[in-house]
Amino acid sequence: MQTIFVLNGPNLNLLGTREPEIYGSDTLNDIARMLDDQAKELGVAIDMRQTNHEGVLVDWLHEAREVGAKAVLLNAGAYTHTSIALLDAIKAIGVPVIEVHLSDPSQREEFRHISYVGMGAVDEVKGLGPRSYSVALAKAAAL
Ligand code: DQA
Repeated sequence: MQTIFVLNGPNLNLLGTREPEIYGSDTLNDIARMLDDQAKELGVAIDMRQTNHEGVLVDWLHEAREVGAKAVLLNAGAYTHTSIALLDAIKAIGVPVIEVHLSDPSQREEFRHISYVGMGAVDEVKGLGPRSYSVALAKAAAL
């Protein structure tokens, strides 16, 4: 069975209590459970993780290549808007990456309008709350 990595960056461990007016009240575990059910229906496996550390995300992107992951869903949180290291990793691994956001950064503060992740990603899904992950998973499974 093919595996899709679902990688989450800084502060996403606080989903549920973090600015719920922007990010909603679902926790990351709620989202993980929803994706597990969906993955079963799609016939893929998911490997979902969260870290607050940029270099760990880089390591996990490398790991996606090493294990032959089919695709990566990446919500890099604020590193989306700052991290050339993530862009370089995405370009290096040869595994398709889909950028995911709960909110729509392009409708928010100016500093969120640039996305280094987006410069390397094959697709993006944003602004749908937890459903952003579902739509992205369906896209990844269809790649
Ligand atoms: C986010 C959007 C980012 O701008 C922000 O820094 C996050 C969450 C989202 O899922 O909407 O941490 O990636």
